[in-house]
Amino acid sequence: MRKLIIILLLTSIVIAMPMVLGIAEGPKAVEEWFSKLNDLTKEKVTKLHFYFHGIASGKNSTSMPVVLSNATSSSATLFGDIFVADDPLTVGPELHSKTVGRAQGLYSGAALAEAGLLMTMNLVFTDGIYNGSTLSLFGRNSILDLYREMSIVGGTGVFRLARGIATAKTFSFSTTTFNAVVEYSVMIIHY
Ligand SMILES: *[C@@H]1O[C@H](CO)[C@@H](O)[C@H](O)[C@H]1NC(C)=O
Ligand SMILES: *[C@@H]1O[C@H](CO)[C@@H](O)[C@H](O)[C@H]1NC(C)=O
Ligand SMILES: *[C@@H]1O[C@H](CO)[C@@H](O)[C@H](O)[C@H]1NC(C)=O
Repeated sequence: MRKLIIILLLTSIVIAMPMVLGIAEGPKAVEEWFSKLNDLTKEKVTKLHFYFHGIASGKNSTSMPVVLSNATSSSATLFGDIFVADDPLTVGPELHSKTVGRAQGLYSGAALAEAGLLMTMNLVFTDGIYNGSTLSLFGRNSILDLYREMSIVGGTGVFRLARGIATAKTFSFSTTTFNAVVEYSVMIIHY
């Protein structure tokens, strides 16, 4: 009897393969997905567009410094400062427009002489067909430049094995609150 229950449990685990948007999850499912890659002749190109809200101050702040070097306070470029952030991503430039995800991760002042942040963030999508999928962004954000290109170095869910380029452009920045709205255009190649 006990053996039967165990077999039933195992069977139900195998049958009830958890899915994210029609993609089977779990180590076995990922292994099968990889084994079918040879059959895939065509990669897809996907374009994403959203606004990133860096809310640096106030009660609803979405980013905060977690490490300061002793040189940071005297640095005009925030050198040595590490922030952790969970910034909302929206369809339009207004914070109250539809939320499509969050940018979760770290950014830090990594340039001594000019404004150059190191960004290591996961773009975590929460809406529509991308809900539950992520893209990993890694790059240099020279925030005073008009356009900043950063690498998309990977992804999960529907973005498995993604690679691409995120182009960031500041939409607005407040010199009093340090809040920033940044327009992101992301081109990725994935399966
Ligand atoms: C924080 O968010 C709440 C809920 O969205 C809003 O009512 C409030 O005005 C916000 N506070 C600040 C300081 O932005
Ligand atoms: C930071 O700390 C180091 C090591 O203690 C010290 O040599 C340096 O002078 C300090 N720099 C500043 C700007 O305080
Ligand atoms: C996204 O997926 C989560 C988990 O499956 C679900 O709870 C949520 O309602 C979904 N959100 C949207 C907007 O589809």
